[in-house]
Amino acid sequence: MAAPTPPLPEIKLLAPENWREYALLDSGEGKTLERFGPYLLISPEPQAVWKKSLPPAEWQKAHAVLREENKEYGGSWQALKPMPKAWELRYQSLTFQLQLGTSRHIGVFPEQASHWDWIMERVQAERRPLRVLNLFGYSGLATLAAASAGAEVTHVDSSKHALNWASYNLKLSGLADKPVRWIAEDALKFTQREARRGNKYDGLILDPPKFGRGSQGQVWDFFKKLPDLVEACRVVLAPKASFIVFTTYAISASALVTLQAVQDITGNKGKAECGELVTREQSAGHILSHALYTRWTP
Ligand SMILES: C[S@@+](CC[C@H](N)C(=O)[O-])C[C@H]1O[C@@H](n2cnc3c(N)ncnc32)[C@H](O)[C@@H]1O
Repeated sequence: MAAPTPPLPEIKLLAPENWREYALLDSGEGKTLERFGPYLLISPEPQAVWKKSLPPAEWQKAHAVLREENKEYGGSWQALKPMPKAWELRYQSLTFQLQLGTSRHIGVFPEQASHWDWIMERVQAERRPLRVLNLFGYSGLATLAAASAGAEVTHVDSSKHALNWASYNLKLSGLADKPVRWIAEDALKFTQREARRGNKYDGLILDPPKFGRGSQGQVWDFFKKLPDLVEACRVVLAPKASFIVFTTYAISASALVTLQAVQDITGNKGKAECGELVTREQSAGHILSHALYTRWTP
């Protein structure tokens, strides 16, 4: 008799709820207006395929706008009002520096605050010193969260600039005495070496970009290298591991686009469910996602 088909996983939506100094003020017509402390920034957002809600006067209060004409680094910031190139932002007990530099990224992905809360909870709940590996750690906010809750963190990033930034953020948060190791290396190469050495981690945090470069020019290509990274992570995961957080922005749209289009059509009445259209392989049961959907009933 064939084994029963396991139920399909549910897709859940997570939104951070504890921000005080950050807010997404408005979005629409391909743009977002966000507040990072005292400064308002406008960025392109192709998924904002609806009308803006705030009047133009509110958008005109912005201090800087991300122009995408120079696509080499994903865009460049143009100041609209006087503002510093670097300033501090707080989330709960963490303080970190934001920078308007040569990249579209300014040092924080606000949506990831949901992960920081969860990481802190996981580390505190274990009541033992967890060893955490943070790959592609960038400005270090997940490292700060884990370290502040009592974990020993190994933070890996191929960029010296990102490592300096993350260690500066650790000091800004008053966590300089916490056990954090800074590794300037290709995330895949480092993890494979840790696997060969038999080193284990109780917590894994991964936020691989679509493309990146290792410290010696190794090319990170999400869709080509992920299987190798998954294999190395499988080996370094401790038998009594506590958590894994895997995030990726290597997608171009979300089911929310279809959901909100339907909600705008129906005036947000009735009931809508959204998700992804998938097929399941016969061999190992992997599920492939093909499309995003929303279904509505009154
Ligand atoms: C936080 S990740 C992803 C950022 C964002 N979530 C996105 O997808 O654009 C970006 C970080 O990965 C680092 N990085 C890129 N390629 C890398 C590699 N091969 N090994 C280690 N770190 C890498 C970059 O230096 C950067 O700090």
